[in-house]
Amino acid sequence: MPWTLGLALAEKRAVCAVASSVLGPLFSQSLYTQGGLGPQAPAGFQRAAPFGLPSLIVARSRSRISGAGDNMARIFSGIQPTGIAHIGNYLGAIQNWVSLQAQHECLWCLVDLHAITVFQDPVLLRAQTLENAALFLACGIDAERGILFHQSAVSAHARLAWIFNCVARMGWLNRMTQFKDKAGKNSEAVSTGLFVYPNLMAADILAYRASHVPVGDDQRQHLELANDIAQKFNHDYGVDFFPVIEPLILGPAARVMSLRNGYQKMSKSDPSDQSRVNLTDKDDVIAQKIKRAKTDPQPLPESAEGFEGRPEARNLVVIYAAIADMTVNDVLRLHGGRGFGPFKDALATLLIEKLAPIRDEAARLRAEPGHVEAVLHRGAMRAQALAEPIMREVERIVGFLPGI
Ligand code: AMP
Ligand code: TRP
Repeated sequence: MPWTLGLALAEKRAVCAVASSVLGPLFSQSLYTQGGLGPQAPAGFQRAAPFGLPSLIVARSRSRISGAGDNMARIFSGIQPTGIAHIGNYLGAIQNWVSLQAQHECLWCLVDLHAITVFQDPVLLRAQTLENAALFLACGIDAERGILFHQSAVSAHARLAWIFNCVARMGWLNRMTQFKDKAGKNSEAVSTGLFVYPNLMAADILAYRASHVPVGDDQRQHLELANDIAQKFNHDYGVDFFPVIEPLILGPAARVMSLRNGYQKMSKSDPSDQSRVNLTDKDDVIAQKIKRAKTDPQPLPESAEGFEGRPEARNLVVIYAAIADMTVNDVLRLHGGRGFGPFKDALATLLIEKLAPIRDEAARLRAEPGHVEAVLHRGAMRAQALAEPIMREVERIVGFLPGI
């Protein structure tokens, strides 16, 4: 098990323990295995298998994602360039991407094809694609070591998505909770693109035959579907072409909740800007949003069990822990038993310390004419070079004559 090197089972910051105590009924300690590591996980991860997923890999700690002698996994992840990335995206996804890039071959994609499944103003979409790309670079995404690009620039995504539209079954897509949530009662009027959104997501990953996908907790059902598609393709065409995809749901903040409602995920599409901290927010806006964040009248609990029925308190402590790279119990040792006032001040200070340099660096990058555009263009060329031979092989497998 070479890729387990450096993993101490007694690791103090075992994320599984944090997840089980903090994320409540979604996770339980029993979901996480302490051993039994299979051949495909990259360094610093351990495997678990909840809810019939083929497997789920959880990092025991971001800081432990290092090691020697590991096999180099190809990693893919995407983010929609709608709105501006917020701390949920940062803690649930981007921060983990930065840790992963040192050891693995990584592709980071601004999924503009996904974005237009809900109408986007074209001028805004272009601007937000650039703004979010600048933010990723400012967060530490290394576009030389990894590949940062926009999805629409590489035709393999759309070509493979079409093939997957013909592999995926209506019944599978009908079960997608994200579609049900987004379509609501209006499912007759939403775009057909929104319905087949998960097929495109499967195509994103499999156009590179990527094996590991770091995402927030909300994407696990989509990744399960991507595996079903990959396996059905392999089965229907009698090949062993697409790999099994391992979701990487990392760290204590895989599901950051809205600042206004502890039962709702923090989301770019929430109409209330007060519900999230955007990575571009000014210091005073961050402080004010945290001050106004919904809480309850009781003091902070002394241990994680005290979060029962208190999702807003839990959420703020999880954000604190993730930003400070502490465990939830460490945070409660510092702040438990006290009121929210001083805790919120400390949290706002931490967030400002973390986010101000990112915001300022993104602004600097955006001010350099053509810089972000050039990074994306070069990323797209490199992504295309990886995807094209795979795509040609897929097209051969399904029986298409060679293209031009
Ligand atoms: P999206 O903003 O939906 O394009 O999501 C981009 C990435 O951020 C995905 O990996 C999501 O799972 C992750 N993400 C989005 N919202 C949250 C959240 N509230 N908490 C944690 N991760 C999130
Ligand atoms: N659906 C993902 C989200 O909204 C974004 C995404 C698109 C993605 N394609 C992907 C994530 C491929 C991981 C891998 O968060």
